[in-house]
Amino acid sequence: MDQTVAFDLALIRRYDQSGPRYTSYPTAVEFHDGFGEPEYRRACARSSASGRPLSLYVHIPFCDTVCFYCACNKIATKDRSRAQPYLERVYRELERQSALLGADRTVEQLHWGGGTPTFISRDQMRELMDHTRRRFRLAADGLGEYAIEIDPREADVQTVVLLRRLGFNRMSLGVQDLDPVVQKAVNRIQTEEETLAVLEAARAEGFRSISIDLIYGLPFQTVDGFIHTLERIVAFAPDRLSVFNYAHLPQRFMPQRRINEADLPSPHTKLDILKTTGELLTDAGYIYIGMDHFARPDDELAVAQRSGSLYRNFQGYSTHADCDLIGIGTTSIGKLDNTYSQNRRTLDEYCRDIDAGCLPVFQGIELSRDDEIRRAVITRLICNFALDVPNLEQTWGIEFADYFSDELPKLAPMQEDGLLTLDAQQIRVLPKGRLLIRNICMAFDAYRSAEDRPAGFSKVI
Ligand SMILES: C[S@@+](CC[C@H](N)C(=O)[O-])C[C@H]1O[C@@H](n2cnc3c(N)ncnc32)[C@H](O)[C@@H]1O
Ligand code: SF4
Repeated sequence: MDQTVAFDLALIRRYDQSGPRYTSYPTAVEFHDGFGEPEYRRACARSSASGRPLSLYVHIPFCDTVCFYCACNKIATKDRSRAQPYLERVYRELERQSALLGADRTVEQLHWGGGTPTFISRDQMRELMDHTRRRFRLAADGLGEYAIEIDPREADVQTVVLLRRLGFNRMSLGVQDLDPVVQKAVNRIQTEEETLAVLEAARAEGFRSISIDLIYGLPFQTVDGFIHTLERIVAFAPDRLSVFNYAHLPQRFMPQRRINEADLPSPHTKLDILKTTGELLTDAGYIYIGMDHFARPDDELAVAQRSGSLYRNFQGYSTHADCDLIGIGTTSIGKLDNTYSQNRRTLDEYCRDIDAGCLPVFQGIELSRDDEIRRAVITRLICNFALDVPNLEQTWGIEFADYFSDELPKLAPMQEDGLLTLDAQQIRVLPKGRLLIRNICMAFDAYRSAEDRPAGFSKVI
């Protein structure tokens, strides 16, 4: 397939509105407390019967300092002794989940996210992986995707060597911006040398895919300043790059209140940064995968997109199609059979549930058949920029034009604007529509019509 992207600023401005990032459909806003432990246990039984491979997500919520822009689920603390009591609960949760989901099923994906997973000591990392391997059967290195989020300020060469030995074969490195003025404004001081040292160690140890996270839209960012960051990062030649749009939602994320809004770049500057980023990375040989992600053409993500086998989950894009996902630790989200579920958000509540012998699931959703059909449409569009209509009709026993008779007229203006083409065989997202993929997906989202602008979602661009 054609993997090019076109930056049409006038169109982007016209379509700019709030919208979900579709790491799930329905999105987490639709989760409710009518879904708890009994519903989760029933989903586990269905999942076990299916024998589908598993994906494990383990959340380590702690960070040594807080970055003011951060929208992740984290606890800022200098007190490292807080990690052990939390990990003890995580081990008990691993044991309970393994008993429910069958220790004999293969885990094809493992992800440690945060917070800062390397906040814990090297001994604790060893112990956590020991417990995981004792409870679950991890696929061989060549077959499994074992990823960890790394803050280079919290990792050194020895840590990288250990992580590879423990089985990790991919990592993402948080960088955000190399400009000291921007770094000071967001309380994340991190030298280029720190980042490069971790990246080079990861390469030397044989990590298969190394990704770098950047954010545009941070205070004091300019087009020229961000070009400098990008040029330096491209010189490091990471396999993947995530260039996130800064989501400034200070009502929801307390630390963001410490960012002075007057210091944020204007929407005009942000769009210029976006356009320049796309051009610079494309010229440097990266492919735009979609939703803030770029990858080298030979990276697995780019290859999977070309062959139509790319998937998307809570951790972003993936090449592993239909794994059932077990979320371990505070705030983690699971996806089992036709359900999503979420663990308790606070450390106290999570520990209380574990200590009481319960599972810490506090909300979730069981998908209806309609939800599943819409999820299938949204997943194909967001991952492959295309939807094979006869294939969908056959899989779900529907007549596409009839089933989506309310939705298809919403695509007509997008077709006129050159965002997509639509016929009886397929929907194809054109280069101009790729940055606006969320808008296209929103047309199929039964929970929000394109006119709604619910609070809490970030802008599409
Ligand atoms: C869960 S964080 C963990 C990474 C690790 N703790 C670190 O900071 O390097 C993953 C990424 O989310 C991105 N991120 C966090 N807050 C964001 C926000 N408000 N808007 C956009 N991206 C954000 C950052 O790029 C960050 O590297
Ligand atoms: S960006 Fe990473 S290190 Fe910074 S506060 Fe968020 S999770 Fe912690």
